[in-house]
Order: sequence, then C-alpha cells, then structure tokens
Amino acid sequence: MRALVFGKGGQLATHLQKKLAPDYDYLGIENLDLTKSSDLSKYLSSHNYELIINASAYTAVDKAEEEKDKAFQVNAEAVGIMAMHCKHLIHISTDYVFDGNKGGAYTENDRPNPLNIYGASKLAGEKLALENNANSIVIRTSWLYSEYGNNFVKTMLRLGQEKDSLAIVSDQIAAPTYAGDLAQIICKIASEPQNYKSGIYHYCSDGKASWYDFAKEIFRLRNIPMELRPILTKDYPTPAQRPLYSLLDNSKIKHDMDIKIPNWQESLKKCLERMS
Ligand SMILES: NC(=O)c1ccc[n+]([C@@H]2O[C@H](COP(=O)([O-])OP(=O)(O)OC[C@H]3O[C@@H](n4cnc5c(N)ncnc54)[C@H](OP(=O)(O)O)[C@@H]3O)[C@@H](O)[C@H]2O)c1
Repeated sequence: MRALVFGKGGQLATHLQKKLAPDYDYLGIENLDLTKSSDLSKYLSSHNYELIINASAYTAVDKAEEEKDKAFQVNAEAVGIMAMHCKHLIHISTDYVFDGNKGGAYTENDRPNPLNIYGASKLAGEKLALENNANSIVIRTSWLYSEYGNNFVKTMLRLGQEKDSLAIVSDQIAAPTYAGDLAQIICKIASEPQNYKSGIYHYCSDGKASWYDFAKEIFRLRNIPMELRPILTKDYPTPAQRPLYSLLDNSKIKHDMDIKIPNWQESLKKCLERMS
C-alpha cells in the first residue's frame, strides 16, 4: 500500500517510523511546509497515496494565541487537503477540543467547546478530515510524551538537574499518554484500515493524573529528590486557557479495536527505562 506519514521528526511520527512497514514515506516541515496549501495539494495530487497518517500539528498551545492563522493552516486547512487526496486518513487530535466543564471523562458523543486557538484549530481539522473523506479515522489523545522530541517528562528531568524545588499545577486533570503506545494502535489500524469504522475515537492511557501527580511520579521513578509544591492554574497564568478536566473515555476504542490500554504509571516507567 502506498502510504505517507506527516510530522517526521515529531514525537509520535518518530515512534511510527520505528514501528510501521519500511516502505512508508515520511515528510517533515523541511520537505513540505503545511502552511503552503498549494504545495501540499500539488504534492498529493502527484503521488496517489492510499493511506495518509497525519502526526503533524502546530502544537505550540500558547503561541497559537498570537499565530491563529498559522495554527488553522496546519491543524485544519492542511488536514482537509490531506483528506481529499487519499483513500484512508488517520488523523490525530486532542483533548483540548473540550472545555473541561463536564465533570467526568469525555466520550466521543460529548460536545466539543475549545477554550483556546489550538483546540479550535484542531476541532476544525477533525471536521474537515471527516467531511472530506468518508474513511477518515480521527484519534483524540492527551498529554503526549516520549523519549523523542520535547515534552513534560523531558522538561521535568532537565529541571531535576537544575532545581531542588518546583511548583506544579495540580488542578488540571487528564491522562498522560506515551506516544509509543499510541503509535502501536495506529500501526494496527494502518495495517488494515478498511477493517475499522470511520469516525472519532478517544485514546489515552488508563487512569488519570494532574501535572503535579505526573511530575511526582517522574521524580519518584528516577529517584530524584525534589520538593514539589502543588499550585492552582489561576496562580500560573498562561496565554492560552486550558481545560481543567479533559480526561478522555477510552471505552469505544477498547471495544471496537479490541485493545488493552496500559495505565499511565506503567507506560511512564517503560518510557523512562527506554530513556536511560
Ligand atoms: N503533544 C501533546 O501533548 C499532544 C496532546 C494531545 C494531542 N496531540 C496531538 O498528537 C499529534 C502528535 O503530536 P506530537 O506531540 O507528536 O507533536 P510534535 O512533537 O510537536 O510534532 C509535530 C510535528 O509537526 C511538524 N509541523 C509543525 N508545523 C508544521 C508545518 N507548518 N509544516 C510541516 N510540519 C509541521 C513539527 O515540525 P517542527 O518540530 O519543525 O515544528 C513536528 O515535526 C498532533 O496531532 C497533536 O496535536 C499532542
């Protein structure tokens, strides 16, 4: 099958590159800038891909507040073009499409209501993926980390070398998700995309955590002495507002794709072992 992965060099795409069949093509920003929609259309029109996996995204949540056009070009417009140019699209989205006010885990039937530009651009991308291709599969995930790229785990490990104490937000709750686990399920779908129903699926690690819990577990597993102080979101202002409770309900993907999902502590341990 002729297949292409966007997002080369990113956390998720790097895991995909290690797991998928060797004949897939990979494109990063150095090959094709997704803000240039005519280049994208031209490239895809001349390559007839049966499957596209979109692991690229404008992921700078705070910067997106001042770069709205760019966020929408990459996270929405480009996704719509990808969807038009392949038989099957697997596209990745985010828990930040929700406002966090439900008070429980979000299912695929819950109404999105993004609080920030990043979330709004990702929601627009989901819609275009599904409208422009009847076979699109959209997987929403949360708090991705990996031994590759930049993420919270790597930031904590760096701060663990530099500081003795840290204040970490304790009232934002979701599930930290290892990009290697998500890549595994994407590979399963990619091997037989025709066997899976189009639509939205939620995938995150089992369990839930705050950023404070997540940091505490990172330092515990690495035996790094760190005095951690829980703080509230309101005491740590950021340009983009974030949902307070954006836990995703995994039931649909577990059932429809017959998979087991590890809990976040188990996956974090696996990732840290691979980093050492
Ligand atoms: N990271 C999270 O916590 C998180 C949470 C929920 C959902 N997600 C979603 O999961 C997916 C994978 O995320 P990730 O963490 O693997 O992202 P990532 O590490 O930030 O990788 C995204 C990739 O997209 C590329 N990209 C950005 N702008 C581009 C452009 N204009 N043209 C071409 N490529 C461009 C980036 O290149 P540069 O590095 O050169 O910019 C990077 O290689 C994304 O859809 C993301 O929205 C992520």
